[in-house]
Amino acid sequence: MAHRPYIVGNWKMNGSRAMLTEARAIDRGAQRCPDVQVALAPPFPFLALLREETSNIGIGGQDCHTAAKGAHTGDVSAAMLADIGADVVIVGHSERRRDHGETDAIVKAKAEAALAAGLGVIICVGETLDERDAGQAEAVVGGQVDASLPLVQGAAEAAALGKLSLAYEPVWAIGTGRVAAVEDVIAMHASIGARLVAAFGDAAAKVRILYGGSVNGENASALLASPGVGGALVGGASLTADAFLPIVAAAA
Ligand code: G3P
Repeated sequence: MAHRPYIVGNWKMNGSRAMLTEARAIDRGAQRCPDVQVALAPPFPFLALLREETSNIGIGGQDCHTAAKGAHTGDVSAAMLADIGADVVIVGHSERRRDHGETDAIVKAKAEAALAAGLGVIICVGETLDERDAGQAEAVVGGQVDASLPLVQGAAEAAALGKLSLAYEPVWAIGTGRVAAVEDVIAMHASIGARLVAAFGDAAAKVRILYGGSVNGENASALLASPGVGGALVGGASLTADAFLPIVAAAA
């Protein structure tokens, strides 16, 4: 595999100063698994604190604006995330697409802003249960991938693609305890991989494809051992070291 497996905890709108204890424990655990790249994405108020309190893990934002600065009350730019030492930003999570009406075009612009700021970026895609039941899963996800990929060209392309990850998160598997079947994950990751090759040619191998949706210490090994699965984007099970570190260990 071109990359170390990438295990990213998305705390969503959960966290507190007290949870720094968990972040520190996760940081210590990550040190014991140097073959795994680990990151945590806490809510914005805790980002700088986590950066200061950890040294073995990456720190990520859960969103960024498309602009670098300006009159956008309540928003945070990729440049600001980079300035406080963040490594990566998640864009296009289905909860943001749902709660904030984010379109593929917005997600693409956010991904481009993140890369321009020197951050890694994780673009989330995934189908709803209705779409899967209608046999539309690959078409829906493929459409999201095609329309959300950042435009990267020329000499900058190789470096940018090394910082790019896609996260396949079936909406119906998020926070439900209902994990996608391994064979469906393999098929979707292959389909996403083919879209990436169509977009970027051989350099597509630099892009990691993560799975997200009810990943836990029990199911992580089978998911992470699957062809085309380069890591996991973890929600609920990233909130405590006891739940998260077994996933990191499963990736080692
Ligand atoms: O971004 C992670 C995610 O949406 C999955 O959440 O709680 O199902 O692991 P969860």
